[in-house]
Amino acid sequence: MAQHFMFIGDLGKEGAHALIKRAKEMKDTRFRGDCMSGKVAALIFEKASTRTRFSFELAVRQLGGTTIFMTPVESQLGRSEPLRDTARVLSRYVDCMIVRTFGQEKLDELARYGSIPVINALTDQGHPCQVLADILTIYERTPDLSKVRVAWIGDGNNMAASWIEATAYFPFELMLAIPEGYDPDPAVLEAAREKGGRFTIVRDPAEAVAGVNYVYTDVWASMGQESEQKKREEAFKGYCVDSALMALAAPEAKFLHCLPAHRGEEVTDEVMESPASIVWDEAENRMHVQKAILEWAMR
Ligand code: CP
Ligand code: NVA
Repeated sequence: MAQHFMFIGDLGKEGAHALIKRAKEMKDTRFRGDCMSGKVAALIFEKASTRTRFSFELAVRQLGGTTIFMTPVESQLGRSEPLRDTARVLSRYVDCMIVRTFGQEKLDELARYGSIPVINALTDQGHPCQVLADILTIYERTPDLSKVRVAWIGDGNNMAASWIEATAYFPFELMLAIPEGYDPDPAVLEAAREKGGRFTIVRDPAEAVAGVNYVYTDVWASMGQESEQKKREEAFKGYCVDSALMALAAPEAKFLHCLPAHRGEEVTDEVMESPASIVWDEAENRMHVQKAILEWAMR
């Protein structure tokens, strides 16, 4: 059975902690390995990407493998070849599929019909690779995650869903300020709550950031929601992470963003460029975490 990475939960609680430690070790030792030697990863990307593509392409190479990048534009995916057929063909060519797409059900279809690991490189429902890199970025500064309080400011989107999922596997506390009408899927909240995740959703960003160690935000309109941009700008007024909001967090609180950032919308240029901003370390950590994920999936 192929070992898929669709959600943080696929790692299990111990596995999730072990993965963060392994990624840190890989970062500290500038790890180069051979677990992908002679292997090929297909990167199937139905949405744009800078970080995820580069960091996965580099991660695979640093583990001894090679990659083939594919989008719907130049492949038969864009001409309606069913995913289940693509999955069966690629499973005979390559050793894993790293997939960025819209609905999570597309990953499920690839996994069901393929026979190689499928790795979630972002869907509308989650971005688990990013959140693990975020947790590594926090862990490097605050190794005792039970002392960490994180505020999420903005949309109840794919990133928020993965953050909420993470509360079931890591001991930090998550405060979310999300405008009414943009809450995450209740099933996501329920699943994390059942597993003991510590999180609270409020409407007021000031309430969410009060005393937290880390402040996180993301774009107001995610990929695929471009037509809602104007409507969302209205709905998210007051949810911009600016210096005044950062001042309500704990002294020395840090700012995180998965990037790309829209300065002047969800975050000010001042906060992005401030000493509190650790977004470049965070982006670097994508590569280290993904090496650990690949090592786990290719075992
Ligand atoms: N954060 C992130 O996934 O960035 P990209 O869209 O550039 O891959
Ligand atoms: N929520 C954003 C994350 C990008 C990394 C999106 O899906 O576009």
